[in-house]
Amino acid sequence: MEFDFDVLVLGLGPVGLVTAVGFAELGHRVLGVDIQAAKVNALKQGKVPFYEPGVEPALQKHLREHRIAFDHDAAPWIPRAEVIFVCVGTPTKPSGEADLSAVRSVVEEVRRHAHGYTLVVEKSTVPVLTARWMEQEFQKVADHDIEVASNPEFLREGSALNDFPHPDRIVLGVRSSRAEHILRNLYRGIETEFLVTDIETAEIIKHASNAFLAMKISFINMIADLCEKTGADVVDVARGMGLDPRIGPSFLRAGLGFGGSCFPKDIRAFQHIGQTLQLDFELLTSILRINEQRIHRFVQHFEEVLGDLKGRTLALLGLSFKPNTDDIREAPSLKVIQALRARGARLHLHDPVAIPNVQKLFPESPPDLIYFEDPYEAIRDADGLGIITEWDLYQTLDLPRVKSLLKRPVVVDGRNIFDPETMLNLGFVYRGMGRGRWLRKKS
Ligand code: UGA
Repeated sequence: MEFDFDVLVLGLGPVGLVTAVGFAELGHRVLGVDIQAAKVNALKQGKVPFYEPGVEPALQKHLREHRIAFDHDAAPWIPRAEVIFVCVGTPTKPSGEADLSAVRSVVEEVRRHAHGYTLVVEKSTVPVLTARWMEQEFQKVADHDIEVASNPEFLREGSALNDFPHPDRIVLGVRSSRAEHILRNLYRGIETEFLVTDIETAEIIKHASNAFLAMKISFINMIADLCEKTGADVVDVARGMGLDPRIGPSFLRAGLGFGGSCFPKDIRAFQHIGQTLQLDFELLTSILRINEQRIHRFVQHFEEVLGDLKGRTLALLGLSFKPNTDDIREAPSLKVIQALRARGARLHLHDPVAIPNVQKLFPESPPDLIYFEDPYEAIRDADGLGIITEWDLYQTLDLPRVKSLLKRPVVVDGRNIFDPETMLNLGFVYRGMGRGRWLRKKS
């Protein structure tokens, strides 16, 4: 295959593929490589192996216009690359430490095949000092001119392609003006703040940002428990706090807590860095602990209303870790399913796109675990309804119909998508997360 390219992207998971398609959208020619041949073949056909709005049509357009191409072998392309984005996975080891074995393979390959000046850019989230280690590895081969940079990604799943041209900031961790120039040139046309810094700072910005956002979520969830005990309303508390511009209103939605491939993994890796450097990072332990307890609180709501859950049928809506994705990594739904099954509950499950992924972990076994294509069918004859993920579809459910389908009109709203007053007026036994003010009202 012959293909002239401006950018080489290694690793085509959600981060790598969106980066590749995003650069193509900016007019660059992009070559994407992944060692999984089946994935590469699907991408060559214009098929995206996961659900991310907008990516598939954009990919098909750029394939037609020869702006993007794929291969499963990086070796022939590395010598011709001026800039290589490292987007391979960095999962968690049992110790919490980031597993950098895929990054290590990339470093090996680049070291073996690079020719002339090559800029290797960390895009996957890696612990601080990873670039320094990469530099040491590259320096072992003296005749190479390989430079490392860090350009962390801040894309959110579900809106990643839309986020790409509209970032809040672009962080460039570089050691030379040459590297800065190359990266600025790649992002030309994007109007945002460019923060140019040293590489270690850029690496920390990424971990610190995710840890801080997770801290906001756990903080408001801690307050949610206080609201339930004192008859207050966490939604109003969050509003009142968020009006202070020093706090800001976002990421203060109380509920079932955070999941996904980023926050839990990144906090564990960040914790591990703190331990290794003998720093007091205990704050991060509390963030994770509070997040774990959300599952328990959600299940307790059902128990407080229905008593023993053995033999009860519960309909659970939303299985992906957040709306607009089929990603179920560290999704709260998985722990909720486990906890409710352990109590002997029968589950009716619905999600618009994530069911095939969940089925691999929890195969259907009627009557204990049944998947439904229609949320109303999942709700029919259930003793209670639980909202786990706030898909738009659920926010616009026909509530009188929901009530008529349920055997008992119990709703535990794990994402606070419904208005408690409306729910109580409709005759539901309604429980949100942290909505103590409404717990006291008679339903
Ligand atoms: C997160 C960051 O928001 C991105 O900036 C970052 O680039 C990405 O991680 C990453 O490191 O790759 P993402 O995991 O896609 O993005 O999802 P978020 O929208 O941040 O949501 C994370 C979790 O927090 C979800 O489970 C969501 O339901 C939960 N959440 C979010 C809350 O429980 N409450 C909130 O107020 C906000």
